[in-house]
Amino acid sequence: TEKKLWGGRFEASLDKQTEEFGASIKFEQRLAPFDLQGSLAHVKMLGATGIISADEAAKIADGLKKVEQQLVNGDIEFKLENEDIHMNMESYLHAEIGTVAGKLHTARSRNDQVATDMHLYLKATLTDVLSALKSLRTTLVNLADNQVDTIMPGYTHLQHAQPISFGQHLMAYYQMFTRDYERFEFNIKHTDINPLGAAALAGTTFPIDREMTTELLDFSKPYANSMDAVSDRDFILEFLSNASLLMMHLSRLCEEILLWCSNEFKFVTLSDSYSTGSSIMPQKKNPDMAELIRGKTGRVYGNLMGLLTVLKGLPLAYNKDLQEDKEGMFDSADTILTALAVMTGMLDTMKVNKDIMETSTQKDFSNATELADYLATKGIPFREAHAIVGKLVLDCTKQGIYLQDVKLADYQKLSNLIEDDIYDVLQSKTAVARRNSLGGTSFTSVKNQIAEARRSL
Ligand code: ARG
Repeated sequence: TEKKLWGGRFEASLDKQTEEFGASIKFEQRLAPFDLQGSLAHVKMLGATGIISADEAAKIADGLKKVEQQLVNGDIEFKLENEDIHMNMESYLHAEIGTVAGKLHTARSRNDQVATDMHLYLKATLTDVLSALKSLRTTLVNLADNQVDTIMPGYTHLQHAQPISFGQHLMAYYQMFTRDYERFEFNIKHTDINPLGAAALAGTTFPIDREMTTELLDFSKPYANSMDAVSDRDFILEFLSNASLLMMHLSRLCEEILLWCSNEFKFVTLSDSYSTGSSIMPQKKNPDMAELIRGKTGRVYGNLMGLLTVLKGLPLAYNKDLQEDKEGMFDSADTILTALAVMTGMLDTMKVNKDIMETSTQKDFSNATELADYLATKGIPFREAHAIVGKLVLDCTKQGIYLQDVKLADYQKLSNLIEDDIYDVLQSKTAVARRNSLGGTSFTSVKNQIAEARRSL
């Protein structure tokens, strides 16, 4: 068999199973374009600093571009024997330009090379995540805008609490996804740093120019410490942690959608395009996608715990353990990008059953606070008002009626402060309209929130 790139000090070849166990090429092929980009910057720098001749640098750069073209054309076959993405790319470069290819790895190690690939990959991915999150936020704001006037029960303990605007409910999620957006934005700060030039761990004796590769790769700055550069995976952990919070938010929304489209609620109807059927029960239309996003939250949390555990107790600098940073990161990236797109589509196509939502606030006691507030406004201490209304709710429950069904004469027996205007106060629409405190559910407040969101989108 062929000699490994690192095969100089070895006499026997690698055990077959061991070779497979150690190889990362099967799961890191997507790093290929970033690996070539990093190599191109490195070789330009090697030429510019005179570490290799200008002619050699040009030949290598040219070869790298040819390999890049092969990659685009789908002509690259990744080989297990070449272990990882770096040696796979280098072997293609060698096939293109011969022995001069061997000069590319001057003043470089796979340790700073792989870190560079990961930074480049994640930086690009963060841009995709931000744009997917922006689409979801836009969808939520548009939906909220259409639903400002839709009244629904607001819940605490999953019990009807007070009537709210559906727009208010949706805008609460907008706020969560906006914080997610800001966290991913901040994630760029620690991802946008260039580890290239750290070499194996200690830097290099060659007169490299790290500022130059930093500029060529469009990083904001080089790592200040070579050992940190090759062992830092905080930027990935931040990503996995941000992804976990995002999935938690998506999963909460999924859970609500699942409740809302159940037969008991019927608040929303999901589009057929986001639902699936049953192989046995012909009537079924299942909200699988909401369940699946909720379910996939588990693997995203798992990826975070996985890498935290890998890094715990890891001595400086590079250790092969670090190779375990990849699958979880790719998996979380793929999962959140798909989950965001599916959620956005599901909300865009979801039908809101306004009447059912509103009706459900008329067959409950979610206006009890209105009556208590009414009495408090007329001077009755709130605690006393609370007790009066509580007793009345109990009586109503026994009679099978609601507060709006109580006759004025009966109200006046309770307190002569109650007048005819109480029936308007008790309407859910009025209850929503009057909650005009900053950030409250009044129609004006929800409209303000939407306008503010539109300004920041
Ligand atoms: N496949 C390795 C990784 O993902 C690349 C770096 C290998 N470096 C080494 N000294 N074995 O971490």
